[in-house]
Order: sequence, then structure tokens, then C-alpha cells
Amino acid sequence: MSSMVKITFLSNGGKVAQAPENSNLLRVSLKEKGGIPFKCGGGLCGTCKCRIEQGLENTDAIKPKERKHLRPEDFEAGYRMACQTFVLGDVAVSWVVRDGKGVVTDAEAQPAAS
Ligand code: FES
Repeated sequence: MSSMVKITFLSNGGKVAQAPENSNLLRVSLKEKGGIPFKCGGGLCGTCKCRIEQGLENTDAIKPKERKHLRPEDFEAGYRMACQTFVLGDVAVSWVVRDGKGVVTDAEAQPAAS
């Protein structure tokens, strides 16, 4: 029996969802209308870049695909790609809101230069 974890979608008014441990962050967001932006869902576009504000230690290992979009200093600051990230415990996540909904908590974020 797997236990449930709590995911707080900070940039969506602090909406809270429960999900089974080891759930994919983007999948939970889609299912629970968490609001994390995405396009490909497959680690290619980088749209799902988000910041784990709390519980970074509750996320799984960084995937090679994430390293194409995020720099080492991004990972240190808690950035992950939601479609590549699995949650092992409670997390709180923010992202840049571009459609006028929610709260911008990360307006300074720039895409990783290649
Ligand atoms: S949705 Fe495209 S990389 Fe995650």
C-alpha cells in the first residue's frame, strides 16, 4: 500500500492535491487541475519548468532530459521539469504564470542558455 503525498500548487492560489507516493508531478497537476504549464509532456519542450519551493528533498533524481533545459544553478535553486519529476513526499511548487491566471512568483526566471 503506498501512502499519499500532498502537493501544493503555489502559483494556482495555493491549491492542494493529494496523490499516491511516487506520482509524476505533471500528471498530478493535469488530473487535479494544478495548473503547471506544459506542452510535450515528454521532457522535450521545457515548458513545464517549475520550482520546488518546499520539499525538494522529496523529489526523485534529476533526469538527463532536464539537464538540457536547466543549469546546475537552476537545480540548486530547486527548479525541475514537472513532466520528469516524481514526488516521494510533500512538495510545494511554483512556476511562471504567463496567461494572467494565478500569481507570478518567479518573474525573474530565464530559460537556460545553451
Ligand atoms: S512538458 Fe515538455 S518538457 Fe515537460
